[in-house]
Amino acid sequence: MRFPFMSEFLTLAGLAAEEEICTRCTLYRDATQAVPGEGPRGARVMLVGEQPGDAEDLSGRPFVGPAGRLLVKALAKVGLPREECFVTNAVKHFKFEPRGKRRLHKKPDAGEIDACRWWLDHERAIVRPGIVVALGASAIRGVLGRAEAVSRLRGTLLDLDAQTKFLATIHPSFLLRLTEEADKREQWARFLGDLGIAAEWTR
Ligand code: URA
Repeated sequence: MRFPFMSEFLTLAGLAAEEEICTRCTLYRDATQAVPGEGPRGARVMLVGEQPGDAEDLSGRPFVGPAGRLLVKALAKVGLPREECFVTNAVKHFKFEPRGKRRLHKKPDAGEIDACRWWLDHERAIVRPGIVVALGASAIRGVLGRAEAVSRLRGTLLDLDAQTKFLATIHPSFLLRLTEEADKREQWARFLGDLGIAAEWTR
């Protein structure tokens, strides 16, 4: 049994190295690698997604697949460049179901999200963002430690603690699943509105 050194938690690189050997739940067994959060220490905004997808699992970087490209586009629209944000996930390993040659995304369960809060909390302690934006229900659980509906919290600036604001919105993959043009337009505008609240808060 190897115990992590507290000093390793003082840098994001040290934390990432510990995440890579994490066995707090069973998802490490099938994933290619852990996908740590990415971005500058001291970033004003921390964005939390659900879990790495196929592209993220292979590259080792968060939000580089289709949902990530949409997120980056939305961030740019509201004046929040991705490079200035810390981007991470509630769960650090890809959970999937093999289907032929493909790996289909499977939603992480509450136990997996709760086990991974350890890493999310350490990332937050190191980065010390002014605002944490949760993208979707898994992220909300990861940040708050309890289940809350996106629809109940969405778009309202809350206090996470004395130094940190909290904002919930949808996950960008929700937008990718919409088929009706009118829905897409409406939900995109709402998403920009939510992210705009975070952007506004940083100014
Ligand atoms: N979806 C997520 O929640 N996170 C990623 O990193 C990619 C897709």
